[in-house]
Amino acid sequence: SPTQRVGGAALPEFGQVAHAVPMLSLNNAFSAEEAAAFDRRCREGLGKETVDYACEPKFDGLAITLRYENGVFVQGATRGDGFTGEDVTQNLRTVRSILLRLTGPDVPEVLEVRGEVLMLRRDFERLNERQRAGGEKEFANPRNAAAGSLRQLDPKITARRPLRFFAYGVGDIAAVSPAPTFHSEMMERLARWGFPLAAERAVVQGVAGLLGYYDKIGAQRRGLRYDIDGVVYKVNRFADQEILGHVARAPRFA
Ligand code: IVH
Repeated sequence: SPTQRVGGAALPEFGQVAHAVPMLSLNNAFSAEEAAAFDRRCREGLGKETVDYACEPKFDGLAITLRYENGVFVQGATRGDGFTGEDVTQNLRTVRSILLRLTGPDVPEVLEVRGEVLMLRRDFERLNERQRAGGEKEFANPRNAAAGSLRQLDPKITARRPLRFFAYGVGDIAAVSPAPTFHSEMMERLARWGFPLAAERAVVQGVAGLLGYYDKIGAQRRGLRYDIDGVVYKVNRFADQEILGHVARAPRFA
């Protein structure tokens, strides 16, 4: 029961959390040409003829990070400015798709899972019906409803809102063995530990793969369970991500 997950009293205010690993922004591409230029920069930077990419929907929710120590959920924070976020641990504890304890022989001692909190479209519709019936203000869209629900000072209110979490990566992480070679492999591991992932993930090759994925998601978009505001392309091999590095606050690899 989500109310069983409510700990302590109402929060007087949110504390600050310094992210162990910054939560970066993404560079945008708004055309096939810009996507091709991204692929070209990756190929040139890596000296490869073809690059493999992990493709994912870009969730239109709120970026958060979940910290687990020895498999126990100890802290959850918003992205904030990417370096410091707000401590929303007590509120996140009420979200049922956020595991409070991870089990398995290969759970790392420290694990930060990055992802988005959002409201599924059908849950948003139902919440607004409830708001209407209760003579309360309706929310403009699922993103606003999710944001308003997460930033409640009283976790009991958050507990009554149908929030979901979807993971898209990791931040701080202690050694895992065997170490994953690919982002897609890390994602499979997160799934095994119990984190929900977008079903619409794919690994593709080269610019044709990127554009094909974009078209496929575009065709599915209206039927998805959640709102998206684009797709995200990530160089799939971690060693290649390291080589490409970052520019300013965004990675060259995504
Ligand atoms: S990866 C190093 N993957 O986009 C790359 N971000 O500017 C870090 N977002 O608010 C981000 N869906 O929460 C990544 N599948 C996805 C995403 C995603 C949504 C958001 C993220 C942040 C923004 C990044």
